[in-house]
Amino acid sequence: MNAIAPFATHTGAPAALAAASGAVQVRGLNKTYRLQGKALPVLADIELDVRPGEFVSIVGASGCGKSTLLRLIVGLEAEYEGQIRLDGALITGTSLERGIVFQDHRLFPWMSVAQNIALALKNHALPQAEKARLVAEHIALVNLDGFADAYPHQLSGGMAQRAAIARALINKPKVLLLDEPLGALDALTRVHLQHELQRIWVQQRCTVIMVTHDIEEALYLGDRVIVMDAHPGRIKRQIHVDLPHPRDRASPVLQGYKEQLLEELVGH
Ligand SMILES: Nc1ncnc2c1ncn2[C@@H]1O[C@H](COP(=O)(O)OP(=O)(O)OP(=O)(O)O)[C@@H](O)[C@H]1O
Ligand SMILES: [Mg+2]
Repeated sequence: MNAIAPFATHTGAPAALAAASGAVQVRGLNKTYRLQGKALPVLADIELDVRPGEFVSIVGASGCGKSTLLRLIVGLEAEYEGQIRLDGALITGTSLERGIVFQDHRLFPWMSVAQNIALALKNHALPQAEKARLVAEHIALVNLDGFADAYPHQLSGGMAQRAAIARALINKPKVLLLDEPLGALDALTRVHLQHELQRIWVQQRCTVIMVTHDIEEALYLGDRVIVMDAHPGRIKRQIHVDLPHPRDRASPVLQGYKEQLLEELVGH
C-alpha cells in the first residue's frame, strides 16, 4: 500500500509516511444513545489523532464505548457531535477506504472462502480474471492457500478470522478497524494470529485501530495503547510503545509497559 520498506526499524510513523494517506482525526467527539427514553452518554470529548500507517490499540472496561468509537470511524453510525476525518475529509458513511473485522467472522455460511472474499469487490468494475487474481493474492496473504473452496463450517475459528481479515483488506483500505478480532480464539491460535497480524500490517502498512481486552496483545502489536475510562467513555491515558517491530514477547521493556497498563486499568 504505502511505499515503505517492510519491517520499519522503529515504531511510530516513519518519516516516509508523513505525506501518506490514512490519517484519522477525531475532534470533540460526543456520542449519546437513547435508552428507554433516557439519554445515555457513551463517548465524551474524544480527541484522537492516528498517523498514517500507525497501529493503535484501544483497551478499556466492557461498555466504555470502544466498539461505538470504531463504528463511528467506520461510518456505521452517523449521529454524533464533533468531527471524524480521514485524511482531512469528514466521514459521513461507510466507504471502501475503511475496513472492519469483528470478533465473529461474519462470513456468509453458504459461500466459500473465495466467494466471501470476492463479495467485497462487488462494487468494482474489474474484469473477473483480475478479481480472481486479487482473491487468490489475499487468500495467500492470510495463509489460507488450499482453502479457497472451503465453506465457513469447514474452517477453524482462526481460519475463519483469517478469511475475514482477507475480506477486509482486499479493497486496500486506508484504515483497518479491528474490534476484538482474536477475542473468540483459543490462546495458542491467538498468539499465532497476533504474529500474523503483525506480519500483514508490516506488509500492507495501512493504519490500524484495534480494540482488545488482552493487554499483552495491545502492547505486542500497538505503536500506541489508548486506555479508555467508562461512563461516559473518555480517553484516560495513552502509552507509546517505543519498541521496533517485529517484537519479542519476552522483552523486559514490554513487561514494564504491561505493569504500567495494569496499574492504569485495575490500579494495582
Ligand atoms: N445501539 C445502542 N443503543 C443504546 N445503547 C447502546 C447501543 N450500542 C451500545 N450501547 C451502549 O453504549 C455503551 C458502550 O457500548 P460499546 O459496545 O461501545 O462498549 P465496548 O467498550 O465495546 O464494550 P465491550 O468491551 O463489552 O465490547 C454501553 O453502555 C452500551 O449499552
Ligand atoms: Mg465492544
